[in-house]
Amino acid sequence: MSSERINEKEQIISEIELAQLSYAEAPQMITAGVPGPKSQKYINDSIEYESLARGGGRLPVVFAEGKGATVKDPDGNVYIDITAGVAVNSVGRCHPRVVKAMQDQMGLLMHALDVSNVRRVELAQKVSSVMPQGLRDNCVTYFNQSGSDAVETAIKFARKMTGRTQIAAFHGAYHGVNIGGTSLTTGENYRNGFGPFIPGVIHLPYPYCYRCCFGLEYPSCKLQCAKYVDYVLNTPYTGADEVGALIIEAQQGESGYVPAPQGYLEIVKKACKKHGALYISDEVQAGAGRTGKMWCIDHYDVEPDMITWGKGMGGDLSMAGLSMRKDLAAKIADGSQPNTWAGNALNSKVCMTNIDIMTENDNALIKRAGELGQEISRLLLEGAKDTRVIGDVRGKGLMIGIELVEDKESREPLNGDAIGQIIMGMLNRGIIMVPCGRYANVFRFMPSLVITRELAVKGVDIFLDEVKKI
Ligand SMILES: Cc1ncc(COP(=O)(O)O)c(C=O)c1O
Repeated sequence: MSSERINEKEQIISEIELAQLSYAEAPQMITAGVPGPKSQKYINDSIEYESLARGGGRLPVVFAEGKGATVKDPDGNVYIDITAGVAVNSVGRCHPRVVKAMQDQMGLLMHALDVSNVRRVELAQKVSSVMPQGLRDNCVTYFNQSGSDAVETAIKFARKMTGRTQIAAFHGAYHGVNIGGTSLTTGENYRNGFGPFIPGVIHLPYPYCYRCCFGLEYPSCKLQCAKYVDYVLNTPYTGADEVGALIIEAQQGESGYVPAPQGYLEIVKKACKKHGALYISDEVQAGAGRTGKMWCIDHYDVEPDMITWGKGMGGDLSMAGLSMRKDLAAKIADGSQPNTWAGNALNSKVCMTNIDIMTENDNALIKRAGELGQEISRLLLEGAKDTRVIGDVRGKGLMIGIELVEDKESREPLNGDAIGQIIMGMLNRGIIMVPCGRYANVFRFMPSLVITRELAVKGVDIFLDEVKKI
């Protein structure tokens, strides 16, 4: 076993073993620029035959093969993938144990019926065993195929569980693109032209400390924004009369990798309890070990009533779910929500294998993500000193947001041309990294948890180098 160890406690993860999961040559560029000729042909065909309503827009990269934290395009260029398929490939692409699990399961059973199948029952048990406080071994799961579906289910169930119709969400929220989720999601791009949305949705300010809407600073603000949530929910004449549930990301994803400051969610949870509203933690992006704990809410002293999860839990195959407290679930044990593909045996097996890889040896891979994330954040903060445009570095574990601005004084978001130049500069050097954020100016550092330290640092170096050219 390697002497180079990130984790020197009981759980030891060898960098050499991790390196074997990815292409050794990454990053390696064969073509003079991206896209190469073969990729270009696929891009042309994609524009001809695929709906461009899809999320990736026109990012000029085509995936042909993937291994761990790296991918190859059809021209043979090998990239370090700092996106993990948007926080999906937590254990990396085509992990050998996942591939083996798939092969074993494929000959046994894949699709069943929306009743019990062996793998689905085992998965429900496993999910319950890794839930945060309040839900652990005290929840049942409704299986979905995507995060959007899980959120949609949560909205419907909250209505029936509480007999109330209002839902509270947050500025900057992204909860998917079904009509219920879109009603909670705030980005104009996702909403314009798709209304009317479901009635009864209230949006509250999220604690985006770098751009505090109250003009305050943490911690001297004394969490005024959390107190505002309590005020809206628990004061007469605010219009929030019958909120059935509040849904929140403990670290916002799409709107800029913004973590809630310590103490914030605790106040929000108390406000929910006082009002009689359920607390739903949307862990679709921040869950599955990404932040250095199994769930992002595990960083806070909060017991959620329900959790929506997806992305990194399924990894290479789609799997999502709504896990809810048993007493609440008992109110909907009525066969009212059939779902054709739910709990597909193959996907369930893959999800279980992912959970095993992440949590074995006392959550070794997850803890490593927390430690590596801290190291990467330190490197980014160090690099930020030499740049005009890195305004903020934030986030937990391997869910790091780097907010770029015109200058650090004005905090004016960096213009789109410069952002595009950085994306292309990195692509041409074999790094795939994509932005997010309310102003599309936040680069997100969210590789697979199995990325080696060496590849992660290389990604940071090339990113900083490209940023310095601005
Ligand atoms: C917090 C959150 N909720 C829900 C979703 C929707 O998930 P999906 O794209 O699987 O439908 C996402 C997707 O990015 C998300 O980040």
